[in-house]
Amino acid sequence: MAGPSTYVPKSGVERWLDARLPVVRMMHGQFVEFPIPRNLNYMYTFGGILMIMLVSQIITGIVLVMHYTPHADMAFNSVEHIMRDVNYGWLLRYMHAVGASMFFVAVYLHIFRGLYYGSYKEPREVLWILGVIIYLLMMATAFMGYVLVWGQMSFWGATVITNFFSVFPVVGETLVQWLWGGFAVDNPTLNRFFSLHYLLPFMIFGVVILHVWALHITGQTNPTGVEVKQKSDTVPFTPYATVKDLFAMVVFFVLFAYFLFFLPNYLGHADNYIEANPLVTPAHIVPEWYFLPFYAILRAVPSALGGVLLMFGAIVVLFFLPWLDTSKVKSGAFRSVWFKAAFWLFAINAVWLGWLGSKPAEGWYVPAMQLGTVYYFAYFLIILPLLGLFETPKPLPASITEAVLKKNGKSVASGSGQPAGATAAPETKG
Ligand code: HEM
Repeated sequence: MAGPSTYVPKSGVERWLDARLPVVRMMHGQFVEFPIPRNLNYMYTFGGILMIMLVSQIITGIVLVMHYTPHADMAFNSVEHIMRDVNYGWLLRYMHAVGASMFFVAVYLHIFRGLYYGSYKEPREVLWILGVIIYLLMMATAFMGYVLVWGQMSFWGATVITNFFSVFPVVGETLVQWLWGGFAVDNPTLNRFFSLHYLLPFMIFGVVILHVWALHITGQTNPTGVEVKQKSDTVPFTPYATVKDLFAMVVFFVLFAYFLFFLPNYLGHADNYIEANPLVTPAHIVPEWYFLPFYAILRAVPSALGGVLLMFGAIVVLFFLPWLDTSKVKSGAFRSVWFKAAFWLFAINAVWLGWLGSKPAEGWYVPAMQLGTVYYFAYFLIILPLLGLFETPKPLPASITEAVLKKNGKSVASGSGQPAGATAAPETKG
């Protein structure tokens, strides 16, 4: 994408390395001179934020493991030991636990950005599918990490979720026992969850590398949905994206710090401060907030098998999204009011399903869960396939440059060929 490299090794060491393993040249190409659309907004900063969150989770996790004991008799107390005895153990643990929630906040905003701007559409299908794989791995990692605390919610959450697999005909029971490593959730289950919880983040890391590789092949979309056509449509990654991403990270970390220092247990469940007890079932077994919409879908239908299939289906449908949306226009900003209404209703419905997920499956909650589930699937399977065929989108700008200059009240001719910073500079100085 960036064309011939402009990297010039400055020192002797750099020249020596460049002739043998041009890794600095590669990083320079990908993160300094890489051209990005000049009109990216702050919704495009969550990918960078996610990278930092992934690294933060891995580092805090590795240090936590130095003090944690993955045994059913000791796990709960080892977590308390981290909180009370280990120097800054409370900070490490809260950074990891609150960090998991913040990771999901960022990933949901990242996904919804993609849904609005049609980031999944041709030629970014593989990039999107890799994202869905990351999301699945994130969910598996978070679920298993929660079990490691070995509190009441860990134990009963693990029991409920693993039991879903028993609904599959013929193989169900065998499958569940294989997951448990025995005949109930117990020490072998904790051990294998610990092993996988340590492994999966590194797998996520690997898939993220492929994700960013795919991104750097296709280039980023932008709020107009019009692809890059000329040099003036882009600016170099550094300093434009670097500075914008850094600023967004600082703002995001203020929010993170707020939860970390003032409300560290707000997003968790009080029952998880009670040690796991297989003989006492908590009044309400609820998963972490980021699973709640799927938990509502699971319990929307009376059949256990139906619920499990719907819950998995809710993720599987995301893999097919690039082919389900028939719109020729990528960006939601240029699509009809019908798309906008359907999209925002989808976002509200996701939050609504999340709220319902925290409620017991009884009374009016059940039909409400059913309605939410119907809309969730209808959005992907009916609305997006049909809407693209019938709607009349707004006229697209001829290029990104034209869209930017029009917004700034300039004529196209006066600014083309100039990067955004170059045209903006005289204004800010004056
Ligand atoms: C650890 C998790 C993830 C990391 C570190 C990550 C990283 C990134 C980065 C750095 C970008 C470019 C900057 C940006 O557009 O924000 C990006 C773009 C993108 N990501 Fe992710 N991502 C993650 C998860 C996901 C998930 C779960 C999905 C979808 C299900 C996804 C789909 C996309 C798409 C479609 C783009 C292209 C956006 C565009 O150009 O319109 N990503 N990602």
